[in-house]
Amino acid sequence: MFVSKPIVVVEQLTYQIGSHASPLLDGISFRLEEASFTVLCGANGCGKSLLLRHLNGLLRPTSGNIYLHGRNIWDDIWDTRQQVGLVFQDPEWQLIGETVREDIGFGLENMGVSMDMRNEKISLIAQQLQIMHLLDRYQYQLSGGEKHLVALAGVLVMGAKVVVLDEPFNALDFHATQNLLLRLLELQEQQQTTILLVTHDLEKVLAHTNHLIVMSKGQIALQGTPEQILPQVAQFGIKVPTLNARKMNDLSWLT
Ligand SMILES: Nc1ncnc2c1ncn2[C@@H]1O[C@H](COP(=O)(O)OP(=O)(O)O)[C@@H](O)[C@H]1O
Ligand SMILES: [Mg+2]
Repeated sequence: MFVSKPIVVVEQLTYQIGSHASPLLDGISFRLEEASFTVLCGANGCGKSLLLRHLNGLLRPTSGNIYLHGRNIWDDIWDTRQQVGLVFQDPEWQLIGETVREDIGFGLENMGVSMDMRNEKISLIAQQLQIMHLLDRYQYQLSGGEKHLVALAGVLVMGAKVVVLDEPFNALDFHATQNLLLRLLELQEQQQTTILLVTHDLEKVLAHTNHLIVMSKGQIALQGTPEQILPQVAQFGIKVPTLNARKMNDLSWLT
């Protein structure tokens, strides 16, 4: 029998700023199975981005804990930040290098990794993501989809086992969405990467997940398989994909 193994466990996470009347995140608990693909959705302002920033320690919970491989992420936050990679909604915020190669290698350079070793690692990741042709481009020469892939490469090159993406498809066209989705599914399949992705557009991804989390007002409103919770998502401001003539397995922009 397949025994699932959580790589990330979030327990009763609460986040409150000052004497704010109510916590911005309130009693959040969920787990991510290793090599799983989880979709997180919820209306604007419900706390999705705040939650993601806790997962690699950009924010510290007011109470509650996050475990990575069974260890509190704050026990070794630098290791956590390498293992849990966050791709921001607007990846321009995290692209620092002038060229793509410099950008992807930035974290390794800071760690004192030699140029030869950096180039080797950069090539491997660029091949995996099919962006070899972008390595010598300048950042301003990249499209939105390419920027997401470069930001993704930047976290993978540091050794990310968990990749967290905040609304990556928002500014992407059909082709760029398909391409990013394909690369993520390859990572999951070939590298056993664990993926947590925020999107409003369930129809783009639903076929690829068996774990859907719906947030509302700083709390988890629903979580389970799409089959279990899809009938209830509309009340939380999520557009329900039209399922009438289609099966759940068809709900993907890859089909
Ligand atoms: N630094 C902050 N200080 C105070 N409130 C914040 C801060 N960051 C976010 N918020 C508030 O927390 C709520 C959740 O924000 P966010 O996580 O960005 O929502 P989402 O990503 O789901 O759209 C929003 O009401 C937002 O205004
Ligand atoms: Mg957000």
